[in-house]
Amino acid sequence: MTEKSTPTRRQFVAGAAATAGLAAAGGFVPARVAIAGAAPVKIGILLPYSGTYAKLGEAITNALKLRIEQAGGKLGGRAIEYLAIDSEMSVPKAPTNTNKLIKKEKVDFLVGPVHSGIAQAMAKIVGPRETPIMIVPNAGSNLVTGSLCAPNIFRTSFTNWQPAYPCGKVMADDGHKTCVTIAWKYTAGRQMMDAGTDNFEKHGGKVVQDIQVSFPKVEFQAQLSEIASIKPDAVFAFFAGGGAVKFVKDYAAAGLKDKIPLYGPGFLTEGVSKAQGAAAEGIRTTLHYAANLDNAANGAFRAAYQKAFGKTADVFAVQGYDTGSLLIQAMDAVGGDTGATRDLIAAMEGATIADSPRGAWTMSKAHNPIQDIYLRQVKDSVNEVLGVAAKALQDPATGCKMA
Ligand code: BEZ
Repeated sequence: MTEKSTPTRRQFVAGAAATAGLAAAGGFVPARVAIAGAAPVKIGILLPYSGTYAKLGEAITNALKLRIEQAGGKLGGRAIEYLAIDSEMSVPKAPTNTNKLIKKEKVDFLVGPVHSGIAQAMAKIVGPRETPIMIVPNAGSNLVTGSLCAPNIFRTSFTNWQPAYPCGKVMADDGHKTCVTIAWKYTAGRQMMDAGTDNFEKHGGKVVQDIQVSFPKVEFQAQLSEIASIKPDAVFAFFAGGGAVKFVKDYAAAGLKDKIPLYGPGFLTEGVSKAQGAAAEGIRTTLHYAANLDNAANGAFRAAYQKAFGKTADVFAVQGYDTGSLLIQAMDAVGGDTGATRDLIAAMEGATIADSPRGAWTMSKAHNPIQDIYLRQVKDSVNEVLGVAAKALQDPATGCKMA
């Protein structure tokens, strides 16, 4: 379970297939043992391993495998075969990639993606089918557990609304009256900016300009000049991964850091605060995780992740880890029988992820986490928790007929 198992660009990887031998030699074989001797469970993975979100895909994959290894490396007694494709963050390629995993590889579970546009493309293919069961370990598109929700689609991360909405109130509570929003121009940016704006304006603020940057561009000079000329009280931003590193550094280099406080959903500083260095110090964000959350599961998880990969865990790793926990619970409930789709779905619907590093969470009727959203602030390059910005926050799941 090293980084070597992470697929390179465009590479289709048949992961560590371990075929379990028949547990009983001859004679009567109890059902549970028969399942244990069955073919490996196939987990198809569609995540970015190249480009600005590459580290997010790597963290999710690492922690998913770590969680399953910690539980003995099997699901419901069966060995596992991982089949991973680099999404290249390409929405046009998403249908081909999804169909390759579903129709050619016949995966039992589909894990992915990071990007909201890809998630919507995948959901349109997976939702109308009975199988496989898809688990979204990052992409926040509100639609995936809203109008595109389906019995076989689950999410272990967040909707774009969840980490963004509470931050609107945080900015207002901090005394700001005007704000400029800035984000990448695609589903995630739009939905997060809309959610933050809504709550900021509900609390007396006014968004005076909405700036959109082509995805995944990282040239921000023109936009920073515009912000400097508008002089709002605050800026609310969504960028993640490599783009977040560049934006936060450019913001400070443009001399804006000490004049106009920067806020956003926590992706702005998550997993990248060390790379951002002094430019990130003091930035306040809201997210469903913080590095120093004081619970036993978080401490053990961070230590295990550091030991296994020599890297610091972040929210993306947490989401991969919880995807592993959900798979373990569901596959235990059916004794490894991947054909028992209804029972698998029922187990996932009733799941409580009690040992999550983010704190315990439950699954909503729309199949999205009901979870606490924390207010965090970067101190000495760590996203430290200041408090709970929204307790057990549930997405409105607009348009979901199951909710
Ligand atoms: C998204 O596209 O949904 C997304 C990507 C990175 C971080 C958060 C959300």
